[in-house]
Amino acid sequence: MSFFPIKDSSGITQLVKSTIAIEGEVRVRPEQSRRDEGTGQIEVQVNKFTLLNPAHRNMPFIPSDNQTLVNEDLRARFRYLDLRRTALADNIRKRSQVARTVRDTLHEDGFLEVETPLLLKSTPEGAREFLVPSRVGQSTAQHDGKDTPLFYALPQSPQQPKQLLICSGAIDKYFQIAKCFRDEDGRKDRQPEFTQIDLEMAFVSWGVDPKICSSDEWRIGGHEVRAIIEKLVGRIWQQVEGITLPSSFRVITYNEAMARYGSDKPDTRFALEIQDITTSLPTHTQALLEDLGEILEAIILRPSESCSFLRANDECSYQNERNVSRSVIADNNLLDWLSDNRLINLKLSGEEHALLNKTLGVSSGDTLWLSRRRKVPEGGSTALGRLRTRISELAHARGDYVPHAVPHFLWVTEFPLFTRADPDKEFLAHGRWSSTHHPFTAPMWQDIEAMYAGRIDQVRGQHYDLVLNGVEIGGGSVRVHDAAMQEYIFSQVLQLSDSEKTSFDHLLHALKCGAPPHGGIALGFDRLMAILCKTPTIRDVIAFPKTGAGTDLLFRSPAAINKEVLYQYGVRPTRG
Ligand code: AMO
Repeated sequence: MSFFPIKDSSGITQLVKSTIAIEGEVRVRPEQSRRDEGTGQIEVQVNKFTLLNPAHRNMPFIPSDNQTLVNEDLRARFRYLDLRRTALADNIRKRSQVARTVRDTLHEDGFLEVETPLLLKSTPEGAREFLVPSRVGQSTAQHDGKDTPLFYALPQSPQQPKQLLICSGAIDKYFQIAKCFRDEDGRKDRQPEFTQIDLEMAFVSWGVDPKICSSDEWRIGGHEVRAIIEKLVGRIWQQVEGITLPSSFRVITYNEAMARYGSDKPDTRFALEIQDITTSLPTHTQALLEDLGEILEAIILRPSESCSFLRANDECSYQNERNVSRSVIADNNLLDWLSDNRLINLKLSGEEHALLNKTLGVSSGDTLWLSRRRKVPEGGSTALGRLRTRISELAHARGDYVPHAVPHFLWVTEFPLFTRADPDKEFLAHGRWSSTHHPFTAPMWQDIEAMYAGRIDQVRGQHYDLVLNGVEIGGGSVRVHDAAMQEYIFSQVLQLSDSEKTSFDHLLHALKCGAPPHGGIALGFDRLMAILCKTPTIRDVIAFPKTGAGTDLLFRSPAAINKEVLYQYGVRPTRG
């Protein structure tokens, strides 16, 4: 008797090397050999088979999940073979199922799916763009590069088109599974070309005075958008994981996230919380820090509470963090562990130490990670926040800490609307204020006065990020719908040049034509799928991804274009 295991799109009935057609009888397997997974319940009694297409004798590798994976570059070059691996093929199938759930759920809720242009125009919105040269306006007589070539820009997101759709009044609820393009350095969770579940809604709220309603959920506007996302994500988790999520997610402000977890996308599956210990210090030190506008923070690891993290804590290196120090408390330094600390020039008496230990509940055997930072948080993480993540990753890698299976979703809100601290955007901001997210985000109504009074650092945005297990999987906001306010933000706050401002003329005009208040969000579809497929890299959930360097080894792109073609676009090669 011979068995031919055939692998096809529905599972493990595998014949690796060739494409064949079989004729035979499908029958239920004997009870003792039945398997639950895939097509394990049936088998085929083969009567006849025909070789349709033989496989090459020397394939670059035999795709299999059971062997150690071959070199990543080789797999990228022969992606069509790598996609035969069950793990990858399953991811692609799951992605399609989730896309269908998204469409079904949003259609049920009255959303219209609308495609928006990929050949758009460059605007100073946030990320660096990909440009596409165009032959428009390039007559053959002018082709030698004398004329300024014209470029399209690929959209970093369909942000402006979707706002304009809502401004049109024709559509109240828009969505799109949208391709986005950003010329950023690749990382495990970033691709130059990625997909968003993008939506926008007319007539969303602008936030409610806490005196009227104290719920965190209503402090900023756009709860309608968050509610639809909670429903959508709940349905996806129910279908894919069989897990029932809470009907609404926890809401935490940016300041609280930075203070307790040192991150604007905190992983809340484990504690290791950060404490501000400034007020436990002697009063003269408190005053000193206060004058500098700084605080002293600590993560305290107690053997009794944090056993999963102890080995990782001992191994954790922190050389890259200038503002972090570690004190391991033992009997012989119990009363002078903070003296001569390089972060804080302080000589505490034994008595002061005893009091400090008492206030913090510190005893021999504890480890204190200390860090001094500016009181007002900036950017996406603090030194202790990065350390907290590092300790958890090390503990996870060692097998000491196994993250909770139930996903932790949370909304992070009340971000500063403008920032000077984002190095990714410096090339656009020229050292001025830049938008923390994008320039169309509305200020919290409570802070509008501060914005017009020029107290820009005090203005919070009506922005919400959706965070899952420490990963930012989505972000959105209530938009500015008042043209005068949008103009003020462009000119007075962001100080855009006239030509930069002109690039937004169409949006300003649309706002002036009676646009409804609106807001929306975009979920990173690839990041969402990577979490659902339990893989650390989004490349595993994209059929044809780019490498970390942004190249495509299969299609061999990007590629040089010959000079004659460049001339047709009015682009002059710099060399050769
Ligand atoms: P934002 O820039 O926050 O918002 O993007 C939304 C989500 O898209 C995902 N994402 C990425 N995924 C893979 N590779 C990338 N390079 C990449 N960049 C972003 C993230 C992120 O949370 N137009 C706004 C949304 C809105 O305001 O409605 C926007 O694009 O998961």
